[in-house]
Amino acid sequence: MTSSLTIAILGGTGDLGTGLARRWAKAGHKVVIGSRTAEKAEIAAADLSSFGVEGLENTAAAAKADIVAITVPYSNQLATLETVKSQLSGKILIDATVPLMPPKVGTVQLPEGGSAAVNAQKALGEDVTVVSAFQNVAAEKLKSDIDLECDVLVAGDKVAARQTVIDLVEDAGMRGWHAGPLANSAAAEALTSLIIQINRRYGIAGAGIRITGTPTKDGRHQPK
Ligand SMILES: NC(=O)c1ccc[n+]([C@@H]2O[C@H](COP(=O)([O-])OP(=O)(O)OC[C@H]3O[C@@H](n4cnc5c(N)ncnc54)[C@H](OP(=O)(O)O)[C@@H]3O)[C@@H](O)[C@H]2O)c1
Repeated sequence: MTSSLTIAILGGTGDLGTGLARRWAKAGHKVVIGSRTAEKAEIAAADLSSFGVEGLENTAAAAKADIVAITVPYSNQLATLETVKSQLSGKILIDATVPLMPPKVGTVQLPEGGSAAVNAQKALGEDVTVVSAFQNVAAEKLKSDIDLECDVLVAGDKVAARQTVIDLVEDAGMRGWHAGPLANSAAAEALTSLIIQINRRYGIAGAGIRITGTPTKDGRHQPK
């Protein structure tokens, strides 16, 4: 695993956040679950107390972390980030937001601006490095102990930050791939609606994606 980091998960009381918290804490990272209320965060963390997970209100969680992940519904993504903006300065923000717009969640509806992650970067400014990941992973699988047969597309404008997130993807038990600049997050965000359609059509409980082919060179740009 990568050296141990303190990772805050904003909205970590929810499905995806709980799954990531569990996987990262099991891998040896210090995980802080964030919530709009400290009480709710503490309750969620208590379920993962055997892994040393702590629960705090979102702002306090972000302040304490080396790296912050956001796992809240698209409708609340930017408002949540606004509340923690100053605590994110100088940090990587891992954005898992999928811009699903109910009721048509099986239809791609990317937001004005291109993608949820691009809009997060615009809202936060250059002090924060947004890297997008995890849009195509089923939370229910992350929350279980099964081996994850699923890959993660990682997009971000800074290669070293992307690599840091890829290392965290691998610590969580999946393969991460450099998927290019943050603008390419649009593809991963859009893909989720296709996966929802596939889940429905074929009765799959949480389909994932796999990149095929054998790498002939190391995609790693920074030595571990
Ligand atoms: N579920 C999946 O399988 C999956 C997979 C890939 C990506 N994603 C993406 O990851 C994000 C989280 O998904 P999820 O299924 O984990 O969501 P969720 O369980 O519905 O919500 C996650 C957390 O967001 C916070 N939240 C809810 N409503 C809010 C509001 N009005 N304002 C601010 N915060 C609010 C809540 O935390 P507090 O009440 O504790 O503040 C909640 O526990 C979404 O953008 C989703 O598209 C989900």
